[in-house]
Amino acid sequence: MALTAKSIRKDFYRAGKNSNIFTAVQMLDLELEQGKMIEITGRSGSGKSTLLNMLAGILNPTSGRILLDEVDLYALDDEKRSRLRNEKIGLIPQGHTALLGLTVLENVLLPAVLYSNGSAPEQRAADLLRQVGLIEMDNEKPNALSGGELRRMAVARALLMQPKIILADEPTAGLDEENIISVMGLLRNAADDGAAVLLVTHENEAAQFADEILHMDGGHFI
Ligand SMILES: Nc1ncnc2c1ncn2[C@@H]1O[C@H](COP(=O)(O)OP(=O)(O)O)[C@@H](O)[C@H]1O
Ligand SMILES: [Mg+2]
Repeated sequence: MALTAKSIRKDFYRAGKNSNIFTAVQMLDLELEQGKMIEITGRSGSGKSTLLNMLAGILNPTSGRILLDEVDLYALDDEKRSRLRNEKIGLIPQGHTALLGLTVLENVLLPAVLYSNGSAPEQRAADLLRQVGLIEMDNEKPNALSGGELRRMAVARALLMQPKIILADEPTAGLDEENIISVMGLLRNAADDGAAVLLVTHENEAAQFADEILHMDGGHFI
């Protein structure tokens, strides 16, 4: 399974005195292949999250296409795209996405519950929580977790369905060195097991885990 971006662009309208159209991502091509981990770096505002969100099926490109194998993601209706996304794409969005009313374990199980077709994979969820060092907190509510712990919970959630595509937007922000290495290791293992992994990060430690490093500036790869 591959995820391919063909000439994608994203414009945002900026309101205000000098209202104008701002192009956050410019005519960009990218292919994510199985078994390969690509790292994208670049300063804040260079368009990394915009690119990742388009690839994830949650932000419509202004032009261009995103293909998941042969399927044009944005040609699908919302319901079909959401299902496909949930099944095939493990997304670690930037920032916090915990559901505060659920426990840590339930948060990790969420992708299996959303479009349920069978019993929740509790064993796998527990294994993942163990790997990210949170198994002892499985019954806590997210408010009891630190920022770094919430990031690790998001990583476990993204890996639950054994997705073929993994998109991680600064998954190690706020983590200490030991946890950075362990999260990078999890993503690397997923790639070695056949996933296509895209990692957006500022961490120096990441370079040793990636197969290819791309730099972004002003919405371009440079
Ligand atoms: N919803 C939006 N509306 C307007 N501008 C946006 C929106 N999202 C992002 N931008 C702008 O697009 C540029 C790229 O943002 P982003 O992709 O988040 O960058 P990065 O992840 O590299 O920090 C920034 O200048 C940002 O302000
Ligand atoms: Mg970002």
